[in-house]
Amino acid sequence: MTHWIDVAAEADLFEGAGIAVAPEGQDIAVFKLEDGGVHAINNLCSHGNAKLCDGFVEGHQVECPFHQALFDVRDGTVSCGPATEPVKSWPVKIEGGRVFLNLQT
Ligand code: FES
Repeated sequence: MTHWIDVAAEADLFEGAGIAVAPEGQDIAVFKLEDGGVHAINNLCSHGNAKLCDGFVEGHQVECPFHQALFDVRDGTVSCGPATEPVKSWPVKIEGGRVFLNLQT
């Protein structure tokens, strides 16, 4: 059975920015892009103790607020160092104005 968890209202999201959510003890950043797409990746940068929800979003990338590594919010891959490891990405769905994440992946 797929296990979707309600983490936020769609209205809590801001275009071009991230918010932090903490379902089941996870630390996850949810981003809404200018194209309307909503994506979730682990909030903790893979390079250090920085929160990606505080990063600057441009296009589909978020810039780590500490050392400016760039992550693709759609799949967590690194587009620019100093980070070298991707961050985990999580499936998202929007239903009835709520944002759901699937943590069983
Ligand atoms: S902590 Fe994110 S790039 Fe260094």
